[in-house]
Amino acid sequence: MTLRQSDIDAEVSAIREAYAKARAGGAPAAHHPPRDYAPYRSSVLRHPEQPLFAVTASNAPEAVELTGPVFGPADVTEFDSDLTRQHTGEPLGERITVSGRLLDSHGRPVRGQLIEVWQANASGRYPHRRDQHQAPLDPNFTGAGRMLTSETDGSYSFTTIRPGAYPWRNHENAWRPAHIHFSLFGTAFTQRLITQMYFPGDPLFAYDPILQSVTDDAARARLVAAYDHSLSRPEFSLGYRWDIVLDGPSATWIEEGR
Ligand SMILES: [Fe+2]
Repeated sequence: MTLRQSDIDAEVSAIREAYAKARAGGAPAAHHPPRDYAPYRSSVLRHPEQPLFAVTASNAPEAVELTGPVFGPADVTEFDSDLTRQHTGEPLGERITVSGRLLDSHGRPVRGQLIEVWQANASGRYPHRRDQHQAPLDPNFTGAGRMLTSETDGSYSFTTIRPGAYPWRNHENAWRPAHIHFSLFGTAFTQRLITQMYFPGDPLFAYDPILQSVTDDAARARLVAAYDHSLSRPEFSLGYRWDIVLDGPSATWIEEGR
């Protein structure tokens, strides 16, 4: 049986109603989605099913350091944070700059931390063999960048192309709203956190079960950047602001188990 958008919408609504009822009954706000969120069909495949493996002195913690995420073989340079200058020509699309601050739950800057970003091109296509949908690749755009937060106020900034929406196969006519993936190292390898940033006013928000898996309205709203005209650069790019809070009640939703 074909799974239609209306089926997904009904499931999303039912989960939202149950959440509202629980909140009215005094349940605390849920800032994170459940690991298994039925409308997002493959969510069941995207988290560990076994208990996490405890690292102790007796089972060689240095092994974790060898297999964990690393900064890469070279230093982070200014070119890494400009995704429009990684090839010989200019990529197609609307040039944007995204800026914000990495904060802890007390509003304190998290300084000197690695932020990695990856995204589709302006046509909504990733240069990945698994992405074969009918949209053009851009020879001048790879869609991956990285930067360090500043040593003063924890701020970050990068220049890129506004990504396009793209189809996926969760259900018939499923489309992801435009988004940029973020990885945040935190202050230790074991604190690596992953989330997504969205663009304000996207008409696809209501139809996307990944975004809707964050059922709490306020938590979901924190995933949406704000257009900030003061960050737009004359004759060059449009500016968006997005602050990321690593923990606490104002935390940005993080993909669990990643
Ligand atoms: Fe994506």
